[in-house]
Amino acid sequence: MCGIIGYVGPRECRDLLMEGLRRLEYRGYDSAGLSVVRKGSVGSVHAVGNLEQLRNAVAQTNGHLSGSTGIGHTRWATHGRVTEENAHPHWDTSGRVHIVLNGIVENWTELRDRLVANGAEFTSETDAEVVAHLISEYFDGDLVEAVRLAYNDLRGHYAFVAMSADAPSVLVGARKECPLVVGIGEGESFIASAIPAFLSETRRVQLVHDGEIVAVTPDGSRFIAPDGSALERAVDEVDWDEEEAEKGGYETFMLKEIHEQADAVAETLAGRLGEDGVELEDIGISDEFLKDVRRVIIVACGTSYHAGLVGRYAIEWWARRPVEMDIASEFRYRNPVLSERDLVIGISQSGETADTLAAMRLARERGAKVLAITNIMGSQATRDADGVLFTRAGLEIGVAATKTFVAQVAAMYLFALKLAELHGTLEPEVRRGLVEDLRSMPHLIAQLVDEIEEPTRRIARHWKDSEFFLYLGRHIGLPICLEGALKLKEVSYIPTDAYAAGEMKHGPIALLDENTPVVCVATDSPVLDKMLSNIAEVRARGAHVIAVASEGSGRVAEHAEQVVEVPAIDWLLQPLFAVIPLQLLAYEIACARGLNVDQPRNLAKTVTVE
Ligand code: F6R
Repeated sequence: MCGIIGYVGPRECRDLLMEGLRRLEYRGYDSAGLSVVRKGSVGSVHAVGNLEQLRNAVAQTNGHLSGSTGIGHTRWATHGRVTEENAHPHWDTSGRVHIVLNGIVENWTELRDRLVANGAEFTSETDAEVVAHLISEYFDGDLVEAVRLAYNDLRGHYAFVAMSADAPSVLVGARKECPLVVGIGEGESFIASAIPAFLSETRRVQLVHDGEIVAVTPDGSRFIAPDGSALERAVDEVDWDEEEAEKGGYETFMLKEIHEQADAVAETLAGRLGEDGVELEDIGISDEFLKDVRRVIIVACGTSYHAGLVGRYAIEWWARRPVEMDIASEFRYRNPVLSERDLVIGISQSGETADTLAAMRLARERGAKVLAITNIMGSQATRDADGVLFTRAGLEIGVAATKTFVAQVAAMYLFALKLAELHGTLEPEVRRGLVEDLRSMPHLIAQLVDEIEEPTRRIARHWKDSEFFLYLGRHIGLPICLEGALKLKEVSYIPTDAYAAGEMKHGPIALLDENTPVVCVATDSPVLDKMLSNIAEVRARGAHVIAVASEGSGRVAEHAEQVVEVPAIDWLLQPLFAVIPLQLLAYEIACARGLNVDQPRNLAKTVTVE
């Protein structure tokens, strides 16, 4: 994720942009930059590091970076290393068109080749720079039209804002699946990734929807569709206070982050899905090694461990490679037997968890190759590994992991598909189908969260006083149960247990009575029939079943009392949906009990001690 902000109006914009970036810093903070139109040209300043570095760089311009139309950006690197050249804004060859972009342009290499052939000179390694050159190529005095034409050439998922020295009182934004909002002030306007960026200046906002272009001037805004037709957009009044603003209008960070899951998955997949396979060239582990890999061993803690479990099923099913899974704190002390043909994957959102780091170091000492899957650039895990696969969920503030979990699962799917491709274990059309399903996931996740929020709240209110919850699942349903049970105990302090449903009769069945809610993950899978039998066994003991099922699967509804349905795409991908009702259930129960979900007792976001 990156944060973008723009201002157009009568005021000196530098400090307004800096303040906007400060509010957006949670979206990325590896580098930042500003561009401002001044006396017929555009000045720009970039800095590597957090906003303090940009503040110092701006101070060194001795006031030269001044003007009243400008754009700013805070970056979370995707394409291109963290350098001043790769920081945004980017510009065209003449330096007159500047842009800031959040997201990924998937067809950037082909566009760049075409633009270079036409004489464009690139100054960065980013995908975003093509947008500036493309707009410049189309610019014929009308920046809005140039952005519209450029937008129609772009593929990917992004939001950007463009500005030109030749059209000094307009900013033009475009949105495709990444957030963008307009702020309407008195004789001045803002455009940003999120409302808090300008909330101290105006509370009047207009939402930019998917596939829309907006021209912003000091007098207001004009919305158009990609075909050039005009669109109407109402102005909404936002009544958030400071604290709510930081949470983007949500009551808690956890809820905000649950809603950000579509974005987290989209960003993690962006640029990594090709026509019929995955593109993971930059993970630092060679294809030769992966083709010859003897065994994959996944180590992690807590929620990251559950993401790894989903990955294990996907790797085994698709790539037919043996996978071992262990909790990092166990692995490191069990004197594991490793070889040079083993790949150890350490999954850690923070990249700083002491046990996971120790397990990764041990694996390396014993000759295995180590791949880190982490959300944090520059974290210790990135230094203790031979290769890194980044999740791109953005900063997660709620202590209970939500959006970082779905991003980790998405990363595991990418890796499993890559391995399957290298080992030739999936028919091309099956692979193509999985890639298409993955591509559709962000959109489906966004819809799902909205659709199930209210029904899940009702279920939560019904069960909020229960003293114990049992979670049952099989195969890919099991890690989702483990994760759902962890979420509930973390934020509500209610004792929970999660079991492989087949194990129920070997013990946990003794816990069931007519007061016990049993959460069953019963999405489509080759073992659904077995799961249905387990649900029937639960009901026969008088306990109550809350089931998560695939859409249209009436069979589950016949057995369970309360059912939350999730989209029915390839069954192995359904964990990415199935976890969402369980996160919401935990969240709503904790809220109904009046608890602080963002900072549950005794927990810490990063566990740097063993
Ligand atoms: C649960 C949670 C923890 C972490 C665990 C590992 O909501 O957040 O269980 O998943 O502490 O943390 P990372 O992924 O940073 O290594």
